[in-house]
Amino acid sequence: MTDFASRLISWQKIHGRHDLPWQNTTDPYAIWVSEIMLQQTQVSAVIGYYGKFMARFPTISDLANATQDEVLQHWSGLGYYSRARNLHHAAQTIVDEHAGQFPQDFNTIQTLSGIGRSTAAAIASFAFHQVQTILDGNVKRVLARHFAISGWTSAPKIEKALWQLAESLLPQSDMVAYTQGLMDLGATVCTRSKPKCAVCPLNESCLARQQNLTSVLPTPKPKKSIPEKNTTMLILQQGNEVMLVKRPPSGIWGGLWSFPESDDTENQDYAATVLKQFGINATVDAPLAPISHVFTHFKLHIKPQPLTVSQHALQAREATAIWLTIEDALGAAIPTPVRNILLKLAHDRS
Ligand code: ADE
Ligand code: SF4
Repeated sequence: MTDFASRLISWQKIHGRHDLPWQNTTDPYAIWVSEIMLQQTQVSAVIGYYGKFMARFPTISDLANATQDEVLQHWSGLGYYSRARNLHHAAQTIVDEHAGQFPQDFNTIQTLSGIGRSTAAAIASFAFHQVQTILDGNVKRVLARHFAISGWTSAPKIEKALWQLAESLLPQSDMVAYTQGLMDLGATVCTRSKPKCAVCPLNESCLARQQNLTSVLPTPKPKKSIPEKNTTMLILQQGNEVMLVKRPPSGIWGGLWSFPESDDTENQDYAATVLKQFGINATVDAPLAPISHVFTHFKLHIKPQPLTVSQHALQAREATAIWLTIEDALGAAIPTPVRNILLKLAHDRS
């Protein structure tokens, strides 16, 4: 075994994390759900969601048989909703094509929606004890520092080199402790800022530490300014109810419930927009404070625009629209900015 692996494994057994809700199981489904939730999301944010999700969808077939709306509802607030749509789709694939059994073959695992090489490796090592390496952002940081590799770690050439390096370090046994050790070291010791090199099991061989490079490695992603977009959310209110529309199945917040939007480049006569689109007469109220929401590829500036429905609208004209009390809307599959607007409305009313 490489010295790197043996030191990491010994360290994990004593100083690593052992009681996270998705540990101490070999159920590939339970591990898979956790790995998807933990992509781009901190452990602390995932913990509250994971137990509820597993209680509602305890098996692959429970998840496959649920509606997309219910799956999204249990994901509401976690963000990156394509993860939930892919998870649901992959569960249906496992039922249809793998007799409901999570596949064990490493290449087959990677054919499932939403499972890339690193996630497949995490599942294969935790559930099936296979010798496969993970390479997520934390692991890239540990390797870039330990071996003093400069350059953005997601640049294709560098990423390829990191995969090869990561494979060359693998032990032939103890894969659960090794894989968890890589994750734990990156999350608790070799942190982005102020790594705790004094207590690191790899400190004797770490080149970044020897060369005083821990603050400049890993090399940050080259900055390019992300585009900004504007939208106005039309908050139709009637009594204690608001109108939500279901967003198209793919794209930003695909399949989630949100407020109808007006593209401000066209016109700003929101009453006319609402009458034309929904057949509802409404008067325009004072706008709420703007909200900005950052996505991976752009920044969205939202102007929340309340309107009071004057003419009783029994039913929204569009099939994709529903009227809900603010309380019920807060329990629906909604994105975070919509949640924050609803909370503001509820607060202003009380
Ligand atoms: N991040 C990704 N997978 C993880 C795991 N199994 N434990 C802790 N953090 C993680
Ligand atoms: Fe990271 Fe410091 Fe450990 Fe090197 S010695 S791997 S920089 S924590």
